[in-house]
Amino acid sequence: MYDNNPTLENIGKKIDPKLQGQVIEGFDNQAFEKRFYIESYGCAMNFSDSEIVASILAKEGYGSTKELEEADLILVNTCSIREKAEDTVRRRLTVFNKVKKRKPGTLVGVLGCMAERLKAKLLDEEKLVDIVVGPDAYRDLPTLLKGAEDGQRGVNVLLSREETYADISPLRMGSNGVSAFISIMRGCDNMCSFCVVPFTRGRERSRDSFSIIAEAQDLYDQGFREVTLLGQNVDSYKWTNPANDEIIKFADLLVMVARVHPDLRIRFSTSHPKDITDDVLYAIRDYENICNYIHLPIQSGNTRVLELMNRTYTREWYDQKVKRIYEVIPDCAISADIICGFCTETEEEHQDTLDAMRNAKYTMSYMFYYSERPGTMAARKYEDDIPLEIKKKRLTEVVKLQGEISLAANLKDIGQTFKVLIEGDSKRSDKDFKGRNSQFKTIVFPKKEGLKKGDYCQVKVLSATSGSLIGELV
Ligand code: 5AD
Ligand code: SF4
Repeated sequence: MYDNNPTLENIGKKIDPKLQGQVIEGFDNQAFEKRFYIESYGCAMNFSDSEIVASILAKEGYGSTKELEEADLILVNTCSIREKAEDTVRRRLTVFNKVKKRKPGTLVGVLGCMAERLKAKLLDEEKLVDIVVGPDAYRDLPTLLKGAEDGQRGVNVLLSREETYADISPLRMGSNGVSAFISIMRGCDNMCSFCVVPFTRGRERSRDSFSIIAEAQDLYDQGFREVTLLGQNVDSYKWTNPANDEIIKFADLLVMVARVHPDLRIRFSTSHPKDITDDVLYAIRDYENICNYIHLPIQSGNTRVLELMNRTYTREWYDQKVKRIYEVIPDCAISADIICGFCTETEEEHQDTLDAMRNAKYTMSYMFYYSERPGTMAARKYEDDIPLEIKKKRLTEVVKLQGEISLAANLKDIGQTFKVLIEGDSKRSDKDFKGRNSQFKTIVFPKKEGLKKGDYCQVKVLSATSGSLIGELV
């Protein structure tokens, strides 16, 4: 997972950075006596978890509100992936605390990765926080809330080897009604040396395939036309059917979800280069509704740095994967996560990352400079020795190069016609629609009567910027 990091490989995913700190709202609130307000930070997995939390709270009589002042319960679903993400949450907590002082009795809860990382310490540090709940403990929310209402501040940060919330139907709030996330697995066993996720989200476990298919079918029946299958490392999805011991791997799952309906688009995030198989590529090639888009974080383009990162692949292996993807799916879009200025990274090694970007021709990337996280292998073993200004300089170069690569790729799309799923009005004008093609590129085009959000249409690209395509209906 999802700080301004929309990806999962975290988690990553892909969240429009503008949704960061998004407030969940939007289901029929009439029936509820109490109100909760929730803000989510970080990866798509957190946004997806907030929908599970909303579902649990609805059963407890809580409706949602997007007005802080109206809330009986204020929740923040947090991210620990970089220091900045935690700083943002702490700033928000000071705001929530002011509301609480004005309106005694309001409860404040911290959920997610920061809750897991800091545990009861959060109650000491943030005096007005009432409950601290880790990512695997949301079923305990009702009990913790009852305790908090009686003045007992509570913590549950137990991690689980089984919890997948498979039976909880997420409340799709604040959704555009077209695209939804489906969480297919939780946790991560990879232990990349820079990453705090294995500590905050625990061991990897896969969700019952049938519950995933049922959720996809239900979303389709409700009018959704795109699902993104989420996990820290979706390619290692593996679930054994207890009825016949059949093992369902990620490629099998992709095909099962694709068969729900040809008009339901399937995306997924995040893939680990060491785990993505040819079978996954064949599934993408063979099913029109599995999108031609793979988020394949590289992190660094240098083998020595990758080794320090414990990514378990070399630069050559990564390049080979990219080559294979383009062989099997020539029009596939690939994106990446990139970390600049990891411990001991030299200027030449940084240049290797730029070279890898040119080679892979990413349509976009999520780019960061290294932020040391307490408890990780890198924090224990390596010195965070690249000065901040060098990290920032390298990041600026990476961002600039990505802009150039994206623009070149988008300019090549001019004249081509793409099948586009309409997601709603464009940000700039309600006379235009915005949608995406299979490659996850945003296309803006003038509306036509009779078309609405959730419909597919054919759009010819007329012009392009590094961030989007502009076209017309054909
Ligand atoms: N510093 C900077 N970026 C990080 N990421 C994960 N941990 C760190 C860290 N300590 C990035 C990786 C990952 C994405 C979700 O966040 O690129 O893929
Ligand atoms: Fe992704 Fe590696 Fe972190 Fe797992 S440990 S979430 S694979 S970056």
